[in-house]
Amino acid sequence: MPKYKIAWLPGDGIGIEVLEAAKLVLDRLRLNADYIHGDIGWEFWCREGDPFPQRTIDVLKTVDAALFGAITSKPIKAAEAELAPSLKGTGLIYRSPIVRLRQLFDLYICLRPCKAYSRNPLNYKEGINLVIFRENTEDLYSGVEFYPVPEELSEILRHLSPPFSAFGGLGSDQYAVSCKINSRKASERILRAAFEFARKYGRKKVTVVHKANVVRATDGVFLEAAQGVASSYPEIAWDDANIDAMTMWLLKNPSSYDVLVAPNLYGDIISDLCAQMVGGLGFGCSGNIGDQLAVFEPTHGSAPKYAGQYKVNPIATILAAKMMLEWLGETQKAQRLEEAVAEVIREGKVRTYDMGGSSKTLELAQEIGNKL
Ligand code: IPM
Ligand code: MG
Repeated sequence: MPKYKIAWLPGDGIGIEVLEAAKLVLDRLRLNADYIHGDIGWEFWCREGDPFPQRTIDVLKTVDAALFGAITSKPIKAAEAELAPSLKGTGLIYRSPIVRLRQLFDLYICLRPCKAYSRNPLNYKEGINLVIFRENTEDLYSGVEFYPVPEELSEILRHLSPPFSAFGGLGSDQYAVSCKINSRKASERILRAAFEFARKYGRKKVTVVHKANVVRATDGVFLEAAQGVASSYPEIAWDDANIDAMTMWLLKNPSSYDVLVAPNLYGDIISDLCAQMVGGLGFGCSGNIGDQLAVFEPTHGSAPKYAGQYKVNPIATILAAKMMLEWLGETQKAQRLEEAVAEVIREGKVRTYDMGGSSKTLELAQEIGNKL
């Protein structure tokens, strides 16, 4: 009997190609697993009005982990235009399946390691080795949004003191409200995950990213939670920084940072910045981790313009597969895979176009496989 059940969610666009590359290396590692395909992506939105159908949710309830490729998404009106004729005008709204997946399965940790592998020509600086813990279930991603704004909410706003009360006097379609919701519970658990990681791997510092000087209520909760959690880890140094200053300091001196922990949206922003410092889209990998399930993915999107060409860099997805192996407890396989990736980057013989080479997606995967 296979040891693991893994949901296989290619999505669309280049998601399909990069997952093929990941499968190639997992097979070379002889991972004893059953891979169960799950329908997810743009074509299911167009055909069924749901990019993340219930049958895929049911598959995810039965597996140990999942590997996810990428999904195309479009603004509301453009998405509606591509619906099957029978579904048009039914009020269906396109929502990002990956955000839904994170919330539905309470995958509260978004773990994004950003490591500069030696001699990657795309490294911003050598030696960068940052790890981001991004809260993954709430904040501005709560999905609680109002447009048009209902009368009850306008009423509350009208009762505030000026100038805030002025919003309540606007017409319901003259403004919109997106709620940033940060609970103490979700803040504490992501902070605890970051400090636990620092303790387990002997990391030197945790930096808490926020904007509590302006966004006082919600980021205030996050910062207060940080003070509480940090007190249980007296041996680990920590500091905090505003998100805007953080982007500047990260560029200026990435080696002053180690583990970063942030609410959802700030984590989203700094993870793109940090991915770019270690080679860009082809290198950013990500784990969405909960207590029961974890879903691993490259940080990049579906790049529709490259779809079907097998030219994109599969390393982000292969590193996501490496994270999955670690999470499953397959530490040795994870280590071998990371060493193989590092060696191929160091040698520089097989490179995709982003690294200045002309190798194809599966050739690079094959080369990594040959080192295993
Ligand atoms: C990411 C992406 C997603 C996000 C998008 C695709 C919804 O940017 O994983 O960082 O915003 O979380
Ligand atoms: Mg992002």
